[in-house]
Amino acid sequence: MIQAHDKDALRVVMRGYRSNSETTAFVPTLGNLHEGHLSLVRKAKEVADRVVVSIFINPTQFDKAEDLAAYPRTLDNDLALLKKENIDLVFLPQADEMYPLGSATRVEVDGISDILEGDSRPGHFSGVATIVAKLFNLVQPDISIFGEKDYQQLMLIRRMEQDLDFGIEIIAAPTAREESGLAMSSRNNYLNEKQRNEIAPNLYAEMQHAKQMILDAQNDYLGIQKKALENLAQKGFEPDYFEIRNADDLSVAQADDKELVILVSAWLGKARLIDNIRVSIR
Ligand code: PAF
Repeated sequence: MIQAHDKDALRVVMRGYRSNSETTAFVPTLGNLHEGHLSLVRKAKEVADRVVVSIFINPTQFDKAEDLAAYPRTLDNDLALLKKENIDLVFLPQADEMYPLGSATRVEVDGISDILEGDSRPGHFSGVATIVAKLFNLVQPDISIFGEKDYQQLMLIRRMEQDLDFGIEIIAAPTAREESGLAMSSRNNYLNEKQRNEIAPNLYAEMQHAKQMILDAQNDYLGIQKKALENLAQKGFEPDYFEIRNADDLSVAQADDKELVILVSAWLGKARLIDNIRVSIR
């Protein structure tokens, strides 16, 4: 596994892959890798000759609610995990390598950046779009893999990729879950044992309950959302949103929409958890 710490070293290796006509799948990460990330890496291995992973704690996507300084840094363990997966190249830049001149140029994806997560975390999606665009330019992969766990982020990346003509195939990988149903996330590290094992799984259970109600032909979506928010608060969460949306454009779900997504965000202690599930109405 090659480790590239700067852009020039990365470019040299990427040029080599391209000159051999080898395809590349790219998995960008913030580090603190867990089974969810590894499922993206395994997907990448299935679909391309070479797998490139980046580990970069991108300062421009953090806000006050999610403290940059508090983000877990576990580089040795991350590298050991990636080595086991037999990936080809890991890109490990520092902030001054990625933003040597600061960040005057930003990528803004209108509309989708302002709702749900974007509403709760102003500037977050501009930070994500900007760093992913920069990484796409540097790596120039054929394919890039993103988790469905961050559903809104996945939609934002797809839109940016199309709008800016990167010519990269974006593949979505399913959310990896613990046995309890809790979506795997670095943020789970902020939970204590009781929160993690007893309370947090209720987030998934509440979405499943709402999904069942929708499938049972109850289309009072506002009522379902309201009840879910009450249930979550009762169980110890501080819910941010619980929304039933159109899965294609995240607009507010209408009674005749067939493809829906339930998205939730809730604070539990120090962790702001997010999750989502799809609902297909036949
Ligand atoms: O989902 C993440 O881990 C980050 O938002 C990403 C895509 C690596 C950009 O920093």
